[in-house]
Amino acid sequence: MRSLLVIVLAAGEGTRMRSTKPKVLHAVANRPMLAHVLDAALHAGASRLAVVIGPDHDAVAAQVRQAAPQAATFVQAERRGTAHAVLAARQALAEGVDDVVVMYGDTPLVRPETIAALRAPLAEGAAVAVLGFRPADPFGYGRLVTDKGELLAIREEKEASEAERQITLCNAGLMAFDGRVVLDLLDRVSDANAKKEFYLTDAVEIARALGRSAAVVEVAVEEVAGVNSRAQLAEAESILQVRLRARALEGGATLVAPETVFLSADTVIGRDVVIEPNVVFGPGVTVEDGATIRAFSHVEGAHVGAGAIVGPFARLRPGAVLGQGVHVGNFVEIKAADLAPGVKVNHLSYVGDASVGANTNVGAGTITCNYDGFRKHRTTIGANAFIGTNTLLVAPVSVGDGAYVGTGSVITENVPEDALAIGRARQVNKPGWAVRLRERLSAGLAPKK
Ligand code: UD1
Ligand code: MG
Repeated sequence: MRSLLVIVLAAGEGTRMRSTKPKVLHAVANRPMLAHVLDAALHAGASRLAVVIGPDHDAVAAQVRQAAPQAATFVQAERRGTAHAVLAARQALAEGVDDVVVMYGDTPLVRPETIAALRAPLAEGAAVAVLGFRPADPFGYGRLVTDKGELLAIREEKEASEAERQITLCNAGLMAFDGRVVLDLLDRVSDANAKKEFYLTDAVEIARALGRSAAVVEVAVEEVAGVNSRAQLAEAESILQVRLRARALEGGATLVAPETVFLSADTVIGRDVVIEPNVVFGPGVTVEDGATIRAFSHVEGAHVGAGAIVGPFARLRPGAVLGQGVHVGNFVEIKAADLAPGVKVNHLSYVGDASVGANTNVGAGTITCNYDGFRKHRTTIGANAFIGTNTLLVAPVSVGDGAYVGTGSVITENVPEDALAIGRARQVNKPGWAVRLRERLSAGLAPKK
């Protein structure tokens, strides 16, 4: 197998994003664009990864460490063109690999199979391969000058002749190079052009002048959509959502109205899961086989066990772990809580920083009072317990296995197993009291008409 070095250019300023955050850290499907690119590179079999970042891009370097700890980062101190950026990773290039692929950190939709397709011409002897596409408006892109499928040159907008500007096949930006000659090619690139930049794209003509060939691999526009603005970020999001929904459907889930379901790049959905309309999955969610997520639920950082039913209108927050067959109903919020198999929390409740044992029923309007203004405290409820409606559990507190808590209780002390706890004012009935009240209050008033 040919070894692969992927160099990701992530030095972009992204001024059109109007953001304090570096562009490549903006997220699609709740994952930074740069992490998508690194992920694709790894899945394409990159044995080495290099990321070129701008000066003062500590946050970008931190993201690289998190998404791909094995990647080396290189700083391009000055922006002097795409070839100059690639050469910032000279040390990685000099280590010697079979194939070198250059990707952009702001082009997050490229799939591993596209990287593989781009490399294919190298195995057949090409020195350079370029990913081509046909944008609706080619303005600003490098035009691919070809002859009978053979790539002759890439002409940047500013250098292109009138005839070359008519070419609709454009450079998407991704390029692959024969690793044995890449440094030689790039060291020959000059900045004698309209932008006074070292163009990576010049490598095509340089390779041909040295008697080597160059190839184009054409892909769909969606694959290479680049992000320069918030509007393009939203477009990339919608393209990726279409793909993620298709993946869930192919995996055996039913999405009643797929276009209304929003997934994260890392959402894991099992077979025979049913997802009703208008459900949002934040990062870190796993839904096991046969579970149902009913309409208008918001789920993040949660594990939903097999056959569980969530919603409608439920909110699962990070650390919610629902066992098999758990029911979490409408207007229920679960956070950092373990619900063992068979637990039911069906209505209007907040269960946070808690564990609930198997088959326990948590009545409507139950609240775990977990926060005292300074710290969070835990509530522990055993198995087969029954928490009456409108109970307040003031943590830290525990309810034993099989215990009952009377409706409307404020529980501040631990409840032993199989006990009944009632923590509410005793009811007093005063016969005839209402009649006497009405007589007193209506004295001297005209009778009601
Ligand atoms: C580049 C290509 C063009 C292609 C287009 C696709 C060149 C010379 N031109 O043009 O053929 O159609 O991309 O979008 O390569 N970068 C750095 N350091 C630099 C310059 C650029 O890291 O000094 C990074 C940018 O952050 C960006 C990428 O390289 O991610 C492309 O740079 P950009 O200036 O956008 O190039 P284009 O003019 O769009
Ligand atoms: Mg650009």
